[in-house]
Amino acid sequence: MASVLVTGSSGRIGRAVVAELTRRGHRVRGFDRVPGPAGAEFVVGSLTDRAALDHAMQDIDTLIHLAATPDDADFLSEILPNNLLGVYHVLESARLAGVKRLILASSGQVNWWQRESGQIPVRPTEAASPRYWYAASKMFLESIGRGFAEMHGLSVIIARLGWCPRTPAQEQEIAEQNWAQDVYISPRDSGRFFACAVEAPDTVRFAVVFGAGRPTHQLQFDPSTARTLLGFEPEDAWPEGLSS
Ligand SMILES: NC(=O)c1ccc[n+]([C@@H]2O[C@H](COP(=O)([O-])OP(=O)(O)OC[C@H]3O[C@@H](n4cnc5c(N)ncnc54)[C@H](O)[C@@H]3O)[C@@H](O)[C@H]2O)c1
Repeated sequence: MASVLVTGSSGRIGRAVVAELTRRGHRVRGFDRVPGPAGAEFVVGSLTDRAALDHAMQDIDTLIHLAATPDDADFLSEILPNNLLGVYHVLESARLAGVKRLILASSGQVNWWQRESGQIPVRPTEAASPRYWYAASKMFLESIGRGFAEMHGLSVIIARLGWCPRTPAQEQEIAEQNWAQDVYISPRDSGRFFACAVEAPDTVRFAVVFGAGRPTHQLQFDPSTARTLLGFEPEDAWPEGLSS
């Protein structure tokens, strides 16, 4: 069983990940600036508070890094502290604490323009085409993840996620667009996806994997690396599992 720190554990995906890891018997600790459910092991803190991160990282062997501004937002007040400076502190804290595996939440938005122009299914080996500032910040995360695998020998899994809606307005957006339905991933599939990444063999040194549900129209993201390296098979297709 792994000892897992989940940053962003109070968020949409984080809550599902904590629930699935706990169900599978892993030891789970949450980290978020928003307090988590009563009873769960949890550290309240910000990604820019190194002391809080170092405290949370004690006795952890696997980090799932979800905490971030999860879409485009003001660069200076949101993306810069949460998605860039925060990544520096989280990864340095993890390295110095002796964490063995990093599972880093990236986004399908790093392949935005190739998918928009119909070059699908996008494969993880293709050059990325980030949509804008948010996706560019995820490329920073992916790049330093690769650096950590090479420089420090950590196992690093980059999770390029599809779309797990956070609001009724986002659910409506997905309902209106075929491509969005094809990249939809339910909360419970998100939980399973990250649990598979935690449980993947130690031989996975660096991998980029897409996390999406079962497409209903056209395959947008190549699911083969998630299948072969992590053993992940999505169970839900839009709109299954929306409230999971
Ligand atoms: N939901 C999706 O469709 C989707 C798609 C692709 C990638 N992602 C990525 O997955 C991750 C989780 O997304 P989500 O949809 O659950 O988002 P969310 O907004 O529901 O959760 C993010 C959590 O991170 C926390 N957080 C943000 N900044 C923080 C900081 N500075 N310090 C401490 N905690 C902080 C928030 O309080 C929140 O609980 C993000 O990295 C996001 O970029 C999500």
